[in-house]
Formats: sequence, C-alpha cells, structure tokens
Amino acid sequence: MPIVVVVGGQWGDEGKGRIVDLLARKARVVARYSAGNNAGHTIVNERGEFKLHLVPAGIFYPEKTCVIGNGVAVDPEVLLGEIGSLQDKGIDTSRLVISDRASVIMPWHRLIDQLDEQLRGDAAIGTTGKGVGPCFVDKVARRGIRIGDLLRADDLAPRIKSALDYQNRVITGVYGAEPIDAGGCCERYLEYGQRLAPFVADVQALVLDAHRRGEYVLLEGAQGSLLDLDHGTYPYVTSSVPSSSSSGAALGVGIGPTDIQRVVGVFKSYCTRVGNGPFPTELFDETAGRLRDHGKEYGRGEYGTTTGRPRRIGWLDAVAARYSVRFNGLSAVALTRLDVLDEMPSIKICTAYELDGEIIEALPARQSVLERVRPVYEELPGWMTPTTDVRNFDDLPPQAQAFIRRVEDLLECPVDLISVGPAREQAVIVNPIF
Ligand code: IMP
Ligand code: MG
Repeated sequence: MPIVVVVGGQWGDEGKGRIVDLLARKARVVARYSAGNNAGHTIVNERGEFKLHLVPAGIFYPEKTCVIGNGVAVDPEVLLGEIGSLQDKGIDTSRLVISDRASVIMPWHRLIDQLDEQLRGDAAIGTTGKGVGPCFVDKVARRGIRIGDLLRADDLAPRIKSALDYQNRVITGVYGAEPIDAGGCCERYLEYGQRLAPFVADVQALVLDAHRRGEYVLLEGAQGSLLDLDHGTYPYVTSSVPSSSSSGAALGVGIGPTDIQRVVGVFKSYCTRVGNGPFPTELFDETAGRLRDHGKEYGRGEYGTTTGRPRRIGWLDAVAARYSVRFNGLSAVALTRLDVLDEMPSIKICTAYELDGEIIEALPARQSVLERVRPVYEELPGWMTPTTDVRNFDDLPPQAQAFIRRVEDLLECPVDLISVGPAREQAVIVNPIF
C-alpha cells in the first residue's frame, strides 16, 4: 500500500491539516516528519475546532497511530500541553508515538530565536519565535539534545552541561543577556522526559512494519515548500533539517525514497505569507482585506494559527507554484479555499514575471532579484456563486471549472482534490488520492 506525502506548496498555511484530516480516513499511520511547533494546523470536525502545532491531525480518528518523527523539533512543554488539552476534550492520545531521535527545543533556543531577530533589526526574518531555527542549528552543530536523552539523568545532565557551557558564553557575550542555569533546566526536562516516556518508540520500525503489512501511511509536511531551506526564498525561510518539502519526508521518519509512492501538494486558490520576505503577487488593496477577512467571524480569516499575525495576501503565483510542483515531484495538487473566491467578480493568476522589461518564467534564486520582479497576470471571470455545498466537479460553476483547469495547465499537475470549506466533508474529490 502506498506511502503518501502531503506537503504545502506555497508559504505555509495552505490547509495541509485539513487535507491530512480528510486523507487520514484511509491511513493507518499519520506521521509528522519535519519542523516543530512553528507550524499550526486548524482542524474543524464533529468534536470541535482544534489548533495543533505538533500532534498530527490523524489523532481525531480512533484507530490511527500518530507519529512525531525523528525529523521534528519538539518543545516538550508545548507537546505536553497539546496532549493535555486533547485529553480534556475526550480525545484518546494513547496512539501517539514520538521518535527517540527527535530534537528537543530547549529554553536557550527560544531565547536565541528572539535575540537573533532583534539583532537582525530591519533584516528580521519574522520567525515565529518558538526556538525552532536555533534548535536545528544545534542539531547540525552536533550540540543538540534528543528526546531519548530526556529519559535518563546520566544521559541528560552531561548533554545540558556541554550545551550550556557553549550557549551561555554566546548568550552573555554576544547578546548581553542573562545565562541559563543548567541544574534547574536538567530537573525540568527530566520531568518532561518521564511524562513523555510512554509515547517514545522506534518510529522507523513502526512506519516500515505498517507499510509492509499493507497499511496506508501518510507523511505530513509542515509549513510550505517556498520556506524550504534549499529551494525556498532564502534567507527568508525556515530552518528545518530535514526540510519540509517532500524530499525531507523519507529522512524525517527513517525510510528510503523508494518507499514513497505519491506526493500531494496543497495550494491555496490564492496565496498567503506570514513573516518577511519576497512575495511577488502581494496585494495591498481592498481585495487583500476581503480575502483576509473572509469567514473571519468563524475564525477562518487569514491570521496565523501560531502567532495570530495577519497573513500577507496575494493572487495565486503560478510561477512559484510550478517550481514547487517540480522540486517536490508532485503527483497531485489539492486546491484549498476555493470558496473564498466565490464573491470575487474576477480572479487573477500570475503566469510569469517581468524583470527589467523581460518576461521570465522561473523563480529567481537571489532575493534582491526576486524583490524586483513584477507579476504578469491573466484575469479570469469569477463565478459569483457559493461553492460550499458542491461535492462533484461537474456541479461547480463553469467559471470555477475553468479556473481549476487553468491552474492544472500552469502548474503542470492534476488537481485531484478541491476544498470548498473547513469541514471534513466540504471537498470535491476529482480523483481519489488513495
Ligand atoms: P521560523 O520557522 O519560526 O524560524 O520562521 C521562519 C519563517 O517561516 C517566518 O517567515 C515564519 O513566519 C515562517 N513560518 C514558520 N512556520 C510557519 C507555518 O507553519 N506557516 C506559515 N509560515 C511559517
Ligand atoms: Mg499553519
């Protein structure tokens, strides 16, 4: 049975949680493979509305195993909080499994994330401030602390001591901030380790065993591909190793690339970005406000799940999206929030960029160049009809069908799934993904 990867195709918040929630119906295992609690999913189902940062969206189905893979940066305090609040609402969390190889976000990571941003001044990235970037820096610097280290004082104490011997010099010397006490930190994290111990297991074996038994496995990316460390709009990207794009999926749970059969990319019918960095199709007019506040009264407006920041809004950028289709090796596109366009008299898609009087069709690598490009738009008529109750492609208004067909042409990838509202059943399945 296939292992399917779901990734965000744009700058995050494309609705991956919602798509994973829908696809998870058939999956036995749902695994997060990268990033940390910088991510945020909003899921609406019969149990209520939930905002999750670490626990995979599959947790709402009683028989699924939900995995936090070795590629994830885990803040134990946040994870324990999330487990507690799910339990408070009667959701069974006993099927949650955490890799002993996952990285731990420590107090100095959160501190350095914020101090780094202050130091960057005008060039601030606009991070979520959760310590995710500095945690991955330490992983790569071989200074990191992993979930397995939290289980025994003999393992944890020397790891914290050597990490803090270094970090406290940086914290006091570079930033002029107060040092962190190793002893108190060790005690607190050992306690977290004890509470997390029942969830810790060998994730690789679990995923491969399920795959070999013929069960569906869903690997869930975080953020969006254009925030990818290698292929995104560097340096305005997120630091995750492995990356959140599809190539990171195998690495982040401990399987090989040949085990993955399908990759679904989730794209909004328009485009949003939180944080700083180039955004060629960004809108500053009244259209941006309309798109941002669509459904705001139901908590569905374009405001960050993790930070509450208003998201920057723009039209669909097919140049960036096609690039994302290519480096993710997408087999299908899931197009979300089509209904948000229901009241737009006309809809634009960016089909190319203009750079110094020339037309280009590829995303420039250099930030200074990307900041100068101007979008070339194609304008399509809107449908001015509600789509929220539509469940079949043929029942969509003809203008909406034409919009979707044009997206497929420009992205060079079939649109297999369309979402027309936040609830699980508000979807048009064009081709079953599995
Ligand atoms: P960091 O991941 O907190 O280091 O932030 C780096 C950049 O990624 C910032 O522009 C954030 O706004 C953005 N970012 C991180 N996580 C998400 C997400 O889940 N959705 C959207 N943007 C994100
Ligand atoms: Mg999000």
